[in-house]
Amino acid sequence: MFWKNNLHLGTLPIATKIIVTFFLILIGIGYLLGFANIFMTYSPVDGKPGLSLEDVSMSFYGSTSKTALEKAVDGSMKQYFNSDGDYQVVKDWVQDGATEKVWDSEVKPIFDVSCSTCHSEEAAVAGVVTVDYSDVEEFLGKDTGKSWSRLVGTAHTHLLAIAPLVFLLILILSFTSYPAVLKNVISIFALSAVFLDIASWFLAKFAPLLGIFVLVGGMSLGLSFGLLVLLPLYDIWIKKV
Ligand code: HEC
Repeated sequence: MFWKNNLHLGTLPIATKIIVTFFLILIGIGYLLGFANIFMTYSPVDGKPGLSLEDVSMSFYGSTSKTALEKAVDGSMKQYFNSDGDYQVVKDWVQDGATEKVWDSEVKPIFDVSCSTCHSEEAAVAGVVTVDYSDVEEFLGKDTGKSWSRLVGTAHTHLLAIAPLVFLLILILSFTSYPAVLKNVISIFALSAVFLDIASWFLAKFAPLLGIFVLVGGMSLGLSFGLLVLLPLYDIWIKKV
């Protein structure tokens, strides 16, 4: 590892200990928020509570039974309807063949109020526009899950943010008094988890079952962050060297 001296985090001056602790706590909070964000985005996808393989495969591979629009209004977009009645009108419209005539008379007014605040031409949140029939039409076909371009876009920001962060945490871990073997194993596990986490998103595009790797990758990354934050904190404040 990076540090071979007898100087450990536990022997640092108190001010430095506090600074390192503060940093680790901030990362810990960021990590919990990340978890909450994943849960809130993905668990409603299949319409059942909890985060499951089905949520993941519907998000990445796509739904085998619903159009993209149906998946969205049954999933994380459902909360934006003003009433259950509005939701039902849209559901019925989709199931009755989503005609332009009914769009104009019944559905557009609902979308204007509930959806097009975020999905206007200007805002186009997540690249989605729901103002006119022609905008919505592209979500009426077979759902193909996350688009490759969105995947590449998220993956590169994610990777370039998480890899340096994990490396920094590994560096902090290397200054603890734990055995070198333990530090090495955790470091390699964490870096592999970063790789698996990103690679799994692309794998999951090929078959619904491969979504399992997204869950395994996410959990490995979660475990890595937990260890990389908690072990140094324990070393700084509790462990007797
Ligand atoms: C507060 C902002 C907001 C509102 C209001 C909103 N959306 Fe979204 N929408 C998002 C975000 C953010 C995403 C991307 C993340 C996601 O898929 O959950 C998204 C994604 C989508 C997608 C793409 C899903 C996919 O598989 O790529 C569709 C379709 C969609 N919304 C439809 C709707 C409809 C229909 C409504 C109205 C009932 C609506 N949205 C209301 C923010 C919003």
